[in-house]
Amino acid sequence: MTVESVQPETSAAPAELREPPLAGGAVPVFGHGLQLVRDPLDFMSSLRAHGDIVRLRLGPKTVYAVTTPELTGALALSPDFKIDGPVWESLVGLLGEEGVATANGPRHRRQRRTIQPAFRMDAIPNYGSIMEEEAHALTERWRPGEVIDCTSESFRVAVRMAARCLLRGEFMDERAERLSTDLATVFRGMYRRMVVPLGPLYKLPFPANREFNRALADLHLLVDEIVAERRASGQKPDDLLTALLEAKDDNGDLIGEQEIHDQVVAIITPGAETIASTIMWLLQALAEHPEHAQKVRAEVESVTGGQPVGFEHVRSLRHTNNVILEAIRLRPAVWILTRRATADTALGDYRIPAGADIIYSPYAIQRDARSYDRHLDFDPDRWLPDRAKDVPKYAMSPFSVGNRKCPSDHFSMAQLSLITAAISAKYRFEPAEESDSAIRVGITLRPNNLRLRPRPW
Ligand code: HEM
Repeated sequence: MTVESVQPETSAAPAELREPPLAGGAVPVFGHGLQLVRDPLDFMSSLRAHGDIVRLRLGPKTVYAVTTPELTGALALSPDFKIDGPVWESLVGLLGEEGVATANGPRHRRQRRTIQPAFRMDAIPNYGSIMEEEAHALTERWRPGEVIDCTSESFRVAVRMAARCLLRGEFMDERAERLSTDLATVFRGMYRRMVVPLGPLYKLPFPANREFNRALADLHLLVDEIVAERRASGQKPDDLLTALLEAKDDNGDLIGEQEIHDQVVAIITPGAETIASTIMWLLQALAEHPEHAQKVRAEVESVTGGQPVGFEHVRSLRHTNNVILEAIRLRPAVWILTRRATADTALGDYRIPAGADIIYSPYAIQRDARSYDRHLDFDPDRWLPDRAKDVPKYAMSPFSVGNRKCPSDHFSMAQLSLITAAISAKYRFEPAEESDSAIRVGITLRPNNLRLRPRPW
């Protein structure tokens, strides 16, 4: 897979451009901030009715929200916007300043060149056997009828798959557990810091702040352990970590320790959180829609002839793939993205001033009635080719487009297909009494506390 080339958009701002309208409902002092905090998903979904781009007041700050598929695509493809703004400022605290997810400009381009080979389409089959092992091991951990905690199970398999494939290390359960506990705490704290930016208050020794700092420190320690172990082993398997340890900067010197560290954090962290959240939504979709669970099972059986599903079957699992796409459409793990304008510029017919913060929501875009018939229905068949062609461009870009596009789209879809196929071949799912599948909004979206009982078919 290659990084998509970035086509220049209009960067001069001609006089006839308009200022985006102010979205309705702003109140004194807080502006739209309270609505965004109270009900971010509904609020973001309501904005298109106010305009293609609207201004929001968040306290003293003005933020621009882009609401149409076409303009979110133009935004992601334009060189006049860089990765920055509220979400990314809070991510820098976690991912560091030197990793691919937070870098901009030449450093970002160089880093993408280093990591890209590990995610290329032709590299994915190398991960096949690890993905198979992990997917089947997941189903073997579960006992028929016993409640599974979908949050920890999803995190565990997501962390293990990413780390075993990309860092080729022995990734013990204890580390997967630590990583997922740390990430949960850190992501919760970061989201709080993003929506309630109380600056210095987060430095005070309150229990929540101490817990956040402890989890963040442990996450970094864990990554240092992984890098140190690889160095000590003297081994150089063909993986992402070797590519990072051998990567050179623009002067031809090996990149520094901090950059290696930040790169590992910047790749494993989004990898674990997004895949784990998506697995949780998939489990919930299978429990809520037994007819599709049954259809997936029948497809897997017909493709594998009743043998354990393997990597070589993934391409043929059409309905399974459509179930995954539909789960991602309705519950995209990455539900909000931000950019910052680097110059006075234009987006559509609107004037965007240099330094403006822009936000948009893949959740709102992917559930919009203007783009999808029966937009809130779970309907995997909408991804059959003769129906999918009617979906407007950029109305389904859960991995984004342009130079910041997720490098891991093929890697992610392969993992998700194998997991969905392996669990559906063996089990159907019923919600346990204590299950709470309400959406928990954080940096990513996931169910509050999904607990299911696997039942053999
Ligand atoms: C369902 C799974 C996933 C979804 C929905 C997803 C979504 C995204 C999106 C939307 C972006 C672009 C952010 C932006 O435009 O500002 C992104 C970037 C990124 N993702 Fe993913 N992702 C997924 C899985 C993964 C995995 C498994 C990994 C790594 C193992 C990963 C690594 C990254 C990295 C490193 C970036 C930053 C790229 C850059 O800035 O150049 N993602 N992801």
